[in-house]
Amino acid sequence: MQSTYHKPVMSREVLTYLRPKPGQVFVDCTIGCGGHAEQILKAIKPNGRLIGIDQDLEALKICEQRLGNYKTNLILVHDNFENLDNILSRHAVKMVNGILFDLGLSSLQIESKARGFSFQRNAPLDMRMDQTRKITAFDLINNLTEDEIAKIIKNFGEERWGRRIAKEIVKERKKIPIVTTLQFANLILKVVPFSSKSKIHPATRTFQAFRIVVNREIEALEQGLEKAIEFLKHSARICVISFHSIEDRTVKKIYRRKAHHHKIKILTKKPLLATEQEVLENPRSRSAKLRVAERNGELK
Ligand SMILES: C[S@@+](CC[C@H](N)C(=O)[O-])C[C@H]1O[C@@H](n2cnc3c(N)ncnc32)[C@H](O)[C@@H]1O
Repeated sequence: MQSTYHKPVMSREVLTYLRPKPGQVFVDCTIGCGGHAEQILKAIKPNGRLIGIDQDLEALKICEQRLGNYKTNLILVHDNFENLDNILSRHAVKMVNGILFDLGLSSLQIESKARGFSFQRNAPLDMRMDQTRKITAFDLINNLTEDEIAKIIKNFGEERWGRRIAKEIVKERKKIPIVTTLQFANLILKVVPFSSKSKIHPATRTFQAFRIVVNREIEALEQGLEKAIEFLKHSARICVISFHSIEDRTVKKIYRRKAHHHKIKILTKKPLLATEQEVLENPRSRSAKLRVAERNGELK
């Protein structure tokens, strides 16, 4: 059994807002290694239910082992949360008491030697969270046009040197395919000016951009969030933890639109951040932003 799991981020805040109670029904749209899920399960037992979704088969295997004591309370689903309506109807779930999205990657994925999410480990350029999908980062990097690549890096990495990087990619791949994370990171290092002020590695934004596109992260988030709000009971809450500004903007935009139509009340005017203590203990929480909303009753 795995000894160290991904540490759940802002779990005290998530639990305080979701207020799980015995017998209630919750959905964890990104169950990952089950950190938040375990705490929700403790609170809803003996007869509550948690539907735990993840598109990563490895994560689900870990959950199955880790949460073995909650077999009667837990339904694990391998799917993309963008299909939330179908998932819930397959399991005859009509309305729920709360929903969590803890977006992005788990430590398991980042630290994997084979999955290609990190430029700190040499691995094939894969970046798929769902290993059953076909398109990898290798396919995009080696086949898209220079313009398409520049657009991806600019739009999803918010990287000002996107055009330069795209040019270098096309130049390099004419000589030899770009196969590994280190080969790709070194190519980026050649053309992005090093800034001693910047706290991040020059390849960070470009890796983020391809990861978002390989996994269609923003489309899935839009779909998943829209659907999730429809399944909340009156006064039930939704918590979304995001890790970069494109995700956070998407959450903010959807909450605002739904609040404008009186579907939800936004409970966090500004996103909540992890405490200094948590950031010290778990550096991954540094960029976390938690936004919470509560479902309104039906309109008169
Ligand atoms: C930050 S981790 C979740 C960690 C979890 N809360 C815990 O405490 O262990 C995010 C997880 O969401 C999954 N994920 C991301 N986008 C998804 C999507 N669109 N559909 C389903 N799962 C997704 C990833 O595969 C990853 O396992």
